[in-house]
Amino acid sequence: MIGREVQPVAYPRGEIRPSDFRVVEVPVRDPRPGEVLVRNTWTSADAALRLRLREKSPPGYFPAFPLGAPMDGIMTVGEVVASRVDGFAPGDTVWHASGWRDYSLVEAGGQALGGVGTLTRLDVEGVPAQAYLSVLGASGLTAYAGLFHIAALREGDVVWVSAAAGCVGGLVAQMAKIRGHRVIGSAGSAEKVRYLLDELGLDAAFDYRAGSIPESLREAAPDGIDVYFDNVGGDHLRAALGALRKGGRVAICGMISEYDAPEPPPGPSNLMLAVTNDLTIRGFRASSNAHLLPEMTREVGAWIREGRLRHRETVVEGLERAPVALAGLMRGDNIGKTLVRIDAAG
Ligand SMILES: NC(=O)c1ccc[n+]([C@@H]2O[C@H](COP(=O)([O-])OP(=O)(O)OC[C@H]3O[C@@H](n4cnc5c(N)ncnc54)[C@H](OP(=O)(O)O)[C@@H]3O)[C@@H](O)[C@H]2O)c1
Repeated sequence: MIGREVQPVAYPRGEIRPSDFRVVEVPVRDPRPGEVLVRNTWTSADAALRLRLREKSPPGYFPAFPLGAPMDGIMTVGEVVASRVDGFAPGDTVWHASGWRDYSLVEAGGQALGGVGTLTRLDVEGVPAQAYLSVLGASGLTAYAGLFHIAALREGDVVWVSAAAGCVGGLVAQMAKIRGHRVIGSAGSAEKVRYLLDELGLDAAFDYRAGSIPESLREAAPDGIDVYFDNVGGDHLRAALGALRKGGRVAICGMISEYDAPEPPPGPSNLMLAVTNDLTIRGFRASSNAHLLPEMTREVGAWIREGRLRHRETVVEGLERAPVALAGLMRGDNIGKTLVRIDAAG
């Protein structure tokens, strides 16, 4: 059998270009004892991949993707076609962390992505398999862990979330709304602002490209904010520090505005406000919170069934277009989760 895989061939300088990747055909062998063979159906484009598309990933993070080798992506779902592992049978829908290819040989029990990416059979009764790449997967876990455990959301908190029309941000915004909070979202276009207000029902939203971020934030939250969920870093984090009330909290989830930069820009010039206002600023990784997956799946699954939480998708067709999907996400072309349907004809 022959399958395709996507390989990086050059580390992007600045913005990702599809020419930084190639798609190659490779033979696919039969599984050995302890392995299953998966025909992948969906994978995702994730901002975090950009951190691994460089000579060295940030210290402490997952290693850089080697050039000329298959990209693993983050999470991928597919159907088992052959199994040498008890408990997995052909036809099972599974997730794993060896994606961006048509077929994956996956070792059962491996602790990929801190355990989040361990080969797992998925319950797809009434749920599309690709939901496990967004709301019921790593993105849902990121939003849930960051908002409820890292920012430790408390009654009455006013919340600002950046990149709110993207996947993680959109989930955070909705989760905070479900818990009854006043939620402000920011995003990069008027269309996205309309989406945040009309479809996600946020209390206020602004286009960060259309004016000064501190002023827009002041207009949306004249008395300040208590929680900032940071997906962006840079000027957004600086504005949040200026708006946080005493005892405010920041969950640092990501800093996408800095991912294409050759060198990390200096930190916020107003960090002293963390001292004067007793702020807590805490970074976190979903993979360090894998233990919250069952709790998240239960609670978020119920919100989906009750129709209280939406998960919008931006779908790119065909494995060969996965790099295009990633470049689009970095540019902000997406609303909700950026997904790649691996076999566009399938
Ligand atoms: N800590 C963790 O374990 C973890 C796990 C998953 C994701 N993350 C982080 O969560 C964040 C969102 O990731 P995602 O995969 O869900 O992507 P996403 O939010 O679906 O897509 C990324 C969005 O970022 C926005 N963006 C891009 N450049 C920007 C800039 N310079 N300034 C402001 N916004 C910008 C774009 O929307 P606009 O049109 O609004 O610009 C784009 O849609 C990222 O920072 C990522 O690293 C962290």
